[in-house]
Amino acid sequence: MSAPTNAGIIGVGLSVPDRVLSNADLEKLVDTSDEWIMSRTGIRERRMCGPDETSATLGAAAARRALDDAGLAPDDLDLIICSTATGDYIWPATACVIQAAIGAGRCPAFDLSAACSGFVYGLATAAAFVNSGQMRSILVVGVDTLTKQINWQDRGTCILFGDGAAATVIGPCAPNEGILATSMGADGTGLEQIILPAGGTKMPVTPEVIEKKLNCIQMRGAEVFKFAVKIMADACVDALSKANLTSQDVDLFIPHQANIRIINAAAERMGLAPERVFKNVDRYGNTSAASIGIAMREALDQGLLRRGSVVVTVGFGAGLTWAANVIRWSRDEGGDRAA
Ligand code: ACO
Repeated sequence: MSAPTNAGIIGVGLSVPDRVLSNADLEKLVDTSDEWIMSRTGIRERRMCGPDETSATLGAAAARRALDDAGLAPDDLDLIICSTATGDYIWPATACVIQAAIGAGRCPAFDLSAACSGFVYGLATAAAFVNSGQMRSILVVGVDTLTKQINWQDRGTCILFGDGAAATVIGPCAPNEGILATSMGADGTGLEQIILPAGGTKMPVTPEVIEKKLNCIQMRGAEVFKFAVKIMADACVDALSKANLTSQDVDLFIPHQANIRIINAAAERMGLAPERVFKNVDRYGNTSAASIGIAMREALDQGLLRRGSVVVTVGFGAGLTWAANVIRWSRDEGGDRAA
């Protein structure tokens, strides 16, 4: 074991299916309209897996890109964490499927179940291993394929979700850079607010379960909305204060991309100007554990992150769960000053 260090993000990759599902496509399935979906959610289109695509195939593609971005080979990895609520199997872990797919040797691999908070939970978990000096290179994949669990007759949920994957490589970085602080929480008393009731050991899938669509996502949208706005802002303020920072120090806010109104309300509560808030929910919908990583990769591609940038990520989701972290970007990007 080496000396304790700081953990930073050293590689980021994304992968989404090619198939696009537009609001016009959904108008043909349920009683809805592009106008309603845009005004209530900000979503214009989302991606949807083809028949051969799964959480593991998307996750492996994102992982390869993240490793390339980090300049590492698969067998450099000390650990793979896959945050997902839509694993290829109930067990074994999708992290193991990804490990085999990318040829990452025999490193440990496990799944993390925290729904849409999974990406931030995953970063925090990986950071703890790196910070303690136990590991150097950890792959965190956030992937979900929720279109496979949707009731396509339920207009309250079928318009919201899309499929996608993001992966990051976490490794040591300079002091006072990387993941500076984290705020995480859960409230199991709210478990029925967003739930996939059947398919686990409590309610196996039977013809009756399928008939009642209990093997599909069920959600109390308005309750989740209120919870999300409050908890996102609270978690960010808590994480910032642990890093001895305030909202005024934030260069880029990368929230879970669930709904434009939730993002705007949370940013307003934190007093963040719109140009400091990253949004791509219009093109991907809610990709659950993937959304923050996809947004982070796109922010990098748009030149919005530089060494020293203060980034706040925050997720909320089923559980109920929530998590925020504060990151001082630790990697030189094109145009940065020399390290
Ligand atoms: N098209 C047209 N009308 C609709 C649609 C639709 N797709 N969906 C619902 N409506 C109707 C409702 O039936 C209702 O009609 P009524 O007044 O006649 O009963 C009306 O629109 C208002 O419904 P609400 O549910 O109150 O609409 P709201 O403004 O709350 O928006 C929404 C619904 C978009 C789901 C919102 O509540 C939301 O985004 N909640 C948060 C959801 C979320 O982020 N979930 C992800 C959690 S992350 C995870 O872990 C998976």
